[in-house]
Amino acid sequence: MSKPIKVAVLGAGIGRSHISGYAALPDHYEVVYVCDLDPVKASAGAKLAQGARPVTAVAEVFADQSVDLVDICLPPHLHAPMTIAALDAGKHVVCEKPIAGSMADVARIAAAASRAGRQVFPVFQYRYGAGYRAAHALREKGMLGKPYVMALETHWQRGPDYYAERWRGSWKGELGGAIVSHAIHAHNLVTLLAGNIRSVAAFIDTRVNPIETEDCAAISMQTVEGALVTSSITLGAAGSKSRFRACFEHVTITSGTEPYHVGAGPWIFTATDPARQAEFDAVLATVPVVRERFAGQFADIWQRLNGEHDLYLPVFAEAEHSIELITALYDSARNARIVTLPLPTDHALANGWQQ
Ligand SMILES: NC(=O)c1ccc[n+]([C@@H]2O[C@H](COP(=O)([O-])OP(=O)(O)OC[C@H]3O[C@@H](n4cnc5c(N)ncnc54)[C@H](O)[C@@H]3O)[C@@H](O)[C@H]2O)c1
Repeated sequence: MSKPIKVAVLGAGIGRSHISGYAALPDHYEVVYVCDLDPVKASAGAKLAQGARPVTAVAEVFADQSVDLVDICLPPHLHAPMTIAALDAGKHVVCEKPIAGSMADVARIAAAASRAGRQVFPVFQYRYGAGYRAAHALREKGMLGKPYVMALETHWQRGPDYYAERWRGSWKGELGGAIVSHAIHAHNLVTLLAGNIRSVAAFIDTRVNPIETEDCAAISMQTVEGALVTSSITLGAAGSKSRFRACFEHVTITSGTEPYHVGAGPWIFTATDPARQAEFDAVLATVPVVRERFAGQFADIWQRLNGEHDLYLPVFAEAEHSIELITALYDSARNARIVTLPLPTDHALANGWQQ
C-alpha cells in the first residue's frame, strides 16, 4: 500500500466529517477526489480536503487507477451497488451505515470483495471515544465479569428540516427508519462488549413524523453471552441524547449523553464491590488516549491496510451482523414473535425488509 493512501470521498454531507478525519492523518491519507452530484457541495468538500479534485460523476473516480480507497457517504440505497462497483474497480471501500438493505446484498458485497481481493470497512465510529475504549480495556483484562443487563437510549429529535432531504424517511431511499439509521450504532456498541445478538423481540412504530419508515422502537434482546439488552429509540425527543448503561458482574458503566459521540469520555465506572474501586481506577488510568470518531477509525484502517490485524477496528462481520439484526427486528415486530439469530439465508426478509 502506497503511503499516504489516496482516497476518494463520495457524497459531501457527512462526507465532510470524513474529510476532516482524513485531514487529521496527513501522513496516512490524501483525499484526492470529492464526488457529489451537486457541484457546489463537491467544490466545498474538495476545498476542505485542500487539493482534492471536485467531480460529479463516480465513474471518473472508479476509472482512476491511482485511487486506493473509496469512501461511500451517499444515501443508503446506493451503499451496496456503489460498494460493489468500487470493489469491481479494484478499490478498498469504507462505507457508511447501513452497509446494505438486505442480507442478500451483504453476501453480494462479500463475494465482490473476495473476487477483487479488496477490503470493505463499515463505519462504526462510535466506539472511537475514550469512554467506550476504557470499557473495552476492562473487558480485555477480564475485569467486567458476567454481563447482566444493558440499557440503550437513542432519544433524538428529527423533524421536517431533516426529512426535507428526499431520500430520508422512505423505504426506497433510506432503506429503513430509526433502527436502520440511528440505533445501529448503539446496537454495535453492545456486541463488542457482550457478544452478538442471539434473540430479539421488537415493537416498532411511526409516531413522530409523517414518514414511511419507523421513528420509534422498544426492543428487547439477548446476546450470545447472555446479556439482556433493552433499546429505547425515538426521533421525537426534546433535543437529542444517547445513553449507554451496562451492569456487569463486577462493574456498572454509565456513558455520557452526546448523541453523535456517546463513546466519548469520561464514562463512569462503579465497582460492584466498593473495596475494588481503586483497582478499577488504577486500570482505567492506564488506558491510552485514543483518536476520536472518524479519525480514530481511519487510523486503524490505515494500520489494517498496512498488514496489522489485531485491532479495535470494526470488521466486515460486524456490518453483516448489523444487517442480520435489523432483518430480525423487522421480522419480530411485524410478526409479533421472538426471533432467534442466525437467520437462514432463505429467511422471508433475506432479500430486504423494505415495504
Ligand atoms: N456515521 C454517522 O455518524 C453518520 C452521520 C450522518 C449520516 N450518516 C450516513 O451517511 C450517509 C449519508 O448521509 P448524509 O446525511 O451525509 O446525506 P446527505 O443527503 O446530506 O449527503 C449525501 C450526498 O450524496 C450526494 N449524492 C447522492 N447521490 C449521488 C451520486 N449518485 N453520486 C454522487 N453524489 C451523490 C448528494 O448530493 C448529497 O450531497 C447515510 O447513509 C447516513 O445514514 C452517518
